[in-house]
Amino acid sequence: MNEHVLYADVARQRTTIVRGEGVYVYDEQGNRYLDAIGGVGVVNVGHGVKEIVDAIASQALTLAFSYASLVDNKPRQSLAAKLNSWVPRGMGQSKTLFCSGGAEANEAALKLAYQYHWERGHPTKRKVVGRWQSYHGNTTGALSMSGRTAWRRMHDSLLLEFPHIPPPYCYRCPWGLSRPQCGLLCAEELRRVICQEGAENIAGFIAEPIIGTSMSAVVPPVEYYPAIRKICDEFDILFIADEVMSGIGRTGLKWGIDHWRVIPDIITTAKGIAGGYASLGATILAEKVWRTIADGTQKPMHSTTFGGNPLSCAAGLAVLQYIEEHDLVLRAAEMGDKLSAKLHEALDDLPWVGDIRGRGLFIGIEIVADKKNKTPFPKEWDVTHRVEDIAFQNGLLILGGVSGPVDDAVGDHFELLPPYTIEDQHLDFIVSTIRQSLETALSGI
Ligand SMILES: Cc1ncc(COP(=O)(O)O)c(C=O)c1O
Repeated sequence: MNEHVLYADVARQRTTIVRGEGVYVYDEQGNRYLDAIGGVGVVNVGHGVKEIVDAIASQALTLAFSYASLVDNKPRQSLAAKLNSWVPRGMGQSKTLFCSGGAEANEAALKLAYQYHWERGHPTKRKVVGRWQSYHGNTTGALSMSGRTAWRRMHDSLLLEFPHIPPPYCYRCPWGLSRPQCGLLCAEELRRVICQEGAENIAGFIAEPIIGTSMSAVVPPVEYYPAIRKICDEFDILFIADEVMSGIGRTGLKWGIDHWRVIPDIITTAKGIAGGYASLGATILAEKVWRTIADGTQKPMHSTTFGGNPLSCAAGLAVLQYIEEHDLVLRAAEMGDKLSAKLHEALDDLPWVGDIRGRGLFIGIEIVADKKNKTPFPKEWDVTHRVEDIAFQNGLLILGGVSGPVDDAVGDHFELLPPYTIEDQHLDFIVSTIRQSLETALSGI
């Protein structure tokens, strides 16, 4: 703790972490913690990887900074080309605008989606539809697209009036229905909102392909994104896949949306792109989007000082190369399957484990008071953070959900997002510590 830092919770004591190595981080006293959340879905190749540190050091000596809006640099060119080889082929030849993080990447997506329509003579197409219980970042535009009410409420009057639709959350279907009789109302809701608002006013739809910190790894049904894509096409609306958390191989495929084989118009990504070795975000435009701008004003109306700087791009390039060379996307899939199986084996008999979900190494656990009725624990019991704190005391970092999965208000959940380099013995420690933490927190209450 330091008296001059403005902490997320001013009154809460925080442990100071001083070192990271592989899947572990260490505090000032030398206590070791297994980083089962990869920082916060960021650290994918592990802490302290020498090849990456060497690449960054070499770039820092060669050229740490140049202003990417004025002059070009090699790492930016190479990273943009690398991302072009990563995105779904259906996006055509992609072009990337770099920035420093997820919210910035989504701000850029919002403005460039608007510009796409503006260039085509549709200046009223300006709203982006989001989903309730989604998170796209804490800047004003990104928060306006987000549906995390707990973080919107205080600043509501400052936000843009963008519509939101309910999440595709089959475990607690907002309509109380189940598949396939539900008629996929969660996707159809997009059509309803577009008709209500007028398609002439809608620029895009944004979604986290697999829902992150608001709901902990909720995976929409298999028909969901194909249906969303169809509706977007029908109404001339861009589909923005927010891959800030689900991208760069975390879910066992390169992008979360790849699980549905659906082609987005814009992909935003951040967190894992530089593996925690630099602040980096990216807004990747499909050919149809950037060509419209290139054939029009020719000037994407968005830029930042640090976007595309050589040092961050060199870090991103080194991380993507490392992931490729070590086949880590496949490893995320394999270790994710193993971790999910072990979690089921170790936790399914506990009365409080309602749902274990996710893809690859993007896994969520929803905790309930009563498994049969899915009744949540009372909010004031703060079960999520009790479990998180006990796991921490036992040397394991897990990520407590930000808001409740039930109406964004109550309910408990947490996420696991370990580095892709995790090994079998680490998985055993994770599942046994989670079981022990749940038992300590919940037995007898
Ligand atoms: C899906 C998603 N989008 C956007 C963001 C915002 O990213 P950043 O915190 O880098 O601005 C986050 C952060 O958690 C996220 O999970």
